[in-house]
Amino acid sequence: MGASHFQMELANLAKCLLLGFMILWIQIHGCKGCFEAERSALLDFKKLVVSDGADADHLLSYWVDDSMSDCCKWERVTCNSTTSHVIELFLNNTRQHDIDSKLFDDYENIWFIKLSLFQQLKELRNLNLSYNAIGGFIDYDEGFERLSELKKLETLDLRHNYFNDSILSSLGALTSLKSLILKSNSMEGSFPSKGFQKLEELDISYNWFNNSILSSLGALTSLKSLILRRNIMEGSFPSKELNNLKNLETLDLRLNYFNGSLSLEELNSLKNLKILDISDNRFNGSLSLEGFERLEDLDISYNWFNNSILSSLGTLTSLRTLKIGGNSMEGCLPIQGFEKLEELDISWNGFNSSILSSLGTLTSLKTLILSGMLDTMAGSFPIQGLCKFKSLVELSLRGNRFSGPLPECIGNLTNLQFLDLSFNQLSGNFQSVVSKLTSLKYLLLSGNEFEGLFSFSALANHSKLEGFLLYSGSRRLELETENPTWFPTFQLKYIDLSNCNLNVRTRAIPSFLLYQYDIRFIDLSHNVWDVPLLDLTK
Ligand SMILES: *[C@@H]1O[C@H](CO)[C@@H](O)[C@H](O)[C@H]1NC(C)=O
Ligand SMILES: *[C@@H]1O[C@H](CO)[C@@H](O)[C@H](O)[C@H]1NC(C)=O
Ligand SMILES: *[C@@H]1O[C@H](CO)[C@@H](O)[C@H](O)[C@H]1NC(C)=O
Ligand SMILES: *[C@@H]1O[C@H](CO)[C@@H](O)[C@H](O)[C@H]1NC(C)=O
Ligand SMILES: *[C@@H]1O[C@H](CO)[C@@H](O)[C@H](O)[C@H]1NC(C)=O
Ligand SMILES: *[C@@H]1O[C@H](CO)[C@@H](O)[C@H](O)[C@H]1NC(C)=O
Ligand SMILES: *[C@@H]1O[C@H](CO)[C@@H](O)[C@H](O)[C@H]1NC(C)=O
Ligand SMILES: *[C@@H]1O[C@H](CO)[C@@H](O)[C@H](O)[C@H]1NC(C)=O
Ligand SMILES: *[C@@H]1O[C@H](CO)[C@@H](O)[C@H](O)[C@H]1NC(C)=O
Ligand SMILES: *[C@@H]1O[C@H](CO)[C@@H](O)[C@H](O)[C@H]1NC(C)=O
Ligand SMILES: *[C@@H]1O[C@H](CO)[C@@H](O)[C@H](O)[C@H]1NC(C)=O
Repeated sequence: MGASHFQMELANLAKCLLLGFMILWIQIHGCKGCFEAERSALLDFKKLVVSDGADADHLLSYWVDDSMSDCCKWERVTCNSTTSHVIELFLNNTRQHDIDSKLFDDYENIWFIKLSLFQQLKELRNLNLSYNAIGGFIDYDEGFERLSELKKLETLDLRHNYFNDSILSSLGALTSLKSLILKSNSMEGSFPSKGFQKLEELDISYNWFNNSILSSLGALTSLKSLILRRNIMEGSFPSKELNNLKNLETLDLRLNYFNGSLSLEELNSLKNLKILDISDNRFNGSLSLEGFERLEDLDISYNWFNNSILSSLGTLTSLRTLKIGGNSMEGCLPIQGFEKLEELDISWNGFNSSILSSLGTLTSLKTLILSGMLDTMAGSFPIQGLCKFKSLVELSLRGNRFSGPLPECIGNLTNLQFLDLSFNQLSGNFQSVVSKLTSLKYLLLSGNEFEGLFSFSALANHSKLEGFLLYSGSRRLELETENPTWFPTFQLKYIDLSNCNLNVRTRAIPSFLLYQYDIRFIDLSHNVWDVPLLDLTK
């Protein structure tokens, strides 16, 4: 009995072990995931990056040459969870440069890669090779033929590299491509006439294309978004060829040298246009947008338009954003029909404060920028005009000549997150007004003539505050940070309390600074201290 019982136990144990092994086997093999050919293609890419001098331990550290390693779990790789094929590859900034730094102007970092590396990734939909300072493809003759095997590739992002236009004709082989980002490369010339039938988004900004590209773009009839920003196009616009782009919703011509008049009526098939940016050009004639009622976002700032164009804006009843700053305009805005307007920027023109009464009906405004009109925007603070805009999130009156105290009703604009009143001639005490604005992220008050005592404790509950700049323009302001006792709920990134008679009686260094650990800029100059400021760094 004992022996057979023991045998049964043994048999059970064996079953358990077998089951265990099976589970283990399934775990290792059944869910192994990625395909060997795709895994080894990725490893080839890593080898290339490493041979280029990158630190292999830190870069792509999950990408290891181990057949047990599932490449679908590697960083920067996305697989389809059903098929286990690689469908997205985020090889953007693989060398992990500080992308804001000047490293990108350093030609010694230019890199040449093999296109054939990607040919095995046949299910790829999204390939991001941006910010790599790639100068070209080594195997680019035969490589592109293989590229045509990427039949599912929809998004290709090559921004911030050193590609020249020689790659363009071959990219046409990517028959599924919907989105092509070529921003910030070294391209010129024209766009190839073959391929790109499905292209919906093309960004060729920050290159060296001149007008000769415009005619070639007419063939891209599926385009919805065309970004031509910062190239060297000049002379008159429109280019009739663009009239084929019947699906176009976004057109960005910013930072070119277009001049004269702009008459979009000549491009009457572009009636679906929703976003038009022609800012930073040299347009100085008329502007006709009749029939373009679907426009939601119009930016004509930094041109040489005068107010004769304002009447042509009145028909744009869908507008949500209107930017006309930096032109030569004055007078009133024809605001009938602008009920949907949420963002208005009229800065750097010749408008005067009488425009505020005319804006009074735009009650859904969230952003209002009226800065930089030193010569015309003057007088006592325009109470009636501003306090009606109860939805305002962002208000800038920077660099005008408004004077007098801040009206109490500004404290009712409790949605305000960004308030810039810098460089006016405002006076009086602002404490009671700003203490009510608890949504504020940025409060910029420098260069005014405020007076009296401001206790920093009034901002104690402004938990979202990131920037407080108050370089005082007069010696009649006193700033107190210690009394009454309070505790900051905010983490400031930018602080300027210079020339503020800061704690003028106690000469104490503001103790709330001890709790601020995210400061990027601080200026406490032109105040008087008892303790050397260096102590703060302890
Ligand atoms: C994954 O592949 C299956 C089968 O081809 C497909 O039906 C599904 O849409 C794919 N999923 C994603 C997220 O691509
Ligand atoms: C690469 O791009 C993706 C998508 O935009 C982003 O989430 C990721 O942070 C980027 N990686 C690097 C290293 O910049
Ligand atoms: C590619 O990566 C860059 C840099 O991280 C990112 O800004 C961009 O949005 C990414 N492109 C796509 C299409 O996700
Ligand atoms: C374009 O780049 C390729 C390398 O990818 C180079 O061989 C060719 O000379 C370049 N062409 C011009 C005009 O600079
Ligand atoms: C436009 O650029 C192409 C090539 O980049 C050049 O051949 C042509 O002369 C330029 N046209 C003008 C008007 O500058
Ligand atoms: C527009 O610019 C072109 C050259 O870019 C110049 O020949 C022409 O005179 C300019 N026209 C106007 C109206 O400024
Ligand atoms: C536009 O600028 C050009 C060149 O400066 C000038 O000749 C032309 O008269 C201007 N047009 C208008 C309508 O002001
Ligand atoms: C304003 O521009 C128009 C062209 O759109 C021009 O005819 C007119 O002379 C300009 N007015 C002034 C005051 O410069
Ligand atoms: C404001 O500008 C309008 C139109 O340009 C002008 O009629 C009015 O006199 C100006 N008002 C002031 C106070 O300067
Ligand atoms: C602020 O709003 C309150 C209630 O909404 C109102 O009673 C008060 O008059 C307003 N204050 C000013 C100065 O407009
Ligand atoms: C901040 O909130 C606390 C707690 O709700 C309250 O006791 C205090 O009075 C508030 N301080 C200010 C300046 O509003």
